[in-house]
Amino acid sequence: MPGFIPEAAAQAADARPAPLDLVLRVNGTEHRLTLDPRTTLLDALREHLHLTGSKKGCGLGQCGACTVRMDGKGVKSCLSLAALVEGREITTIEGLAQGDQLHPLQAAFIERDAFQCGYCTSGQIMAGVACIAEGHAGSPQEIRDWMSGNLCRCGAYDHIVAAIQDAAGATGPARGG
Ligand code: FES
Ligand code: FES
Repeated sequence: MPGFIPEAAAQAADARPAPLDLVLRVNGTEHRLTLDPRTTLLDALREHLHLTGSKKGCGLGQCGACTVRMDGKGVKSCLSLAALVEGREITTIEGLAQGDQLHPLQAAFIERDAFQCGYCTSGQIMAGVACIAEGHAGSPQEIRDWMSGNLCRCGAYDHIVAAIQDAAGATGPARGG
């Protein structure tokens, strides 16, 4: 049908919502952004703030590769709209170390060899920090249950659990963050 595709494209462009100005607070810094209101937090972090440590695995909330902390809780950033998290304190893997000093869980992942390809690792670490901080690292089974939303295609689960146990011993629930 002549002219159909350009017409459809024009209609789609007309339907695009107006961009939104917002401020995201990430790793202690405020960022002013103008975004399509449909932008997920994950895309805002990766595509607009260039914080690419948080990974896009499924984009559907099923793999955990995109896990960040929001106000201290572990959340899957592919399921959050950036426009709805304005004013929240977001921590990504880039904000975990203190200068050259790795977070105890980052150090434990290296010590325990808790990754292979590394694609899931930042999400595992952010979820693991939340697991410790929220007091769910009392036993290997409790850690497995808590971390069940974070998949590892390389099957590094035993080492990940060991690393979280180590870090829990080093930090305790109150200092998990
Ligand atoms: S990318 Fe968010 S859960 Fe998979
Ligand atoms: S280390 Fe490869 S997916 Fe987890």
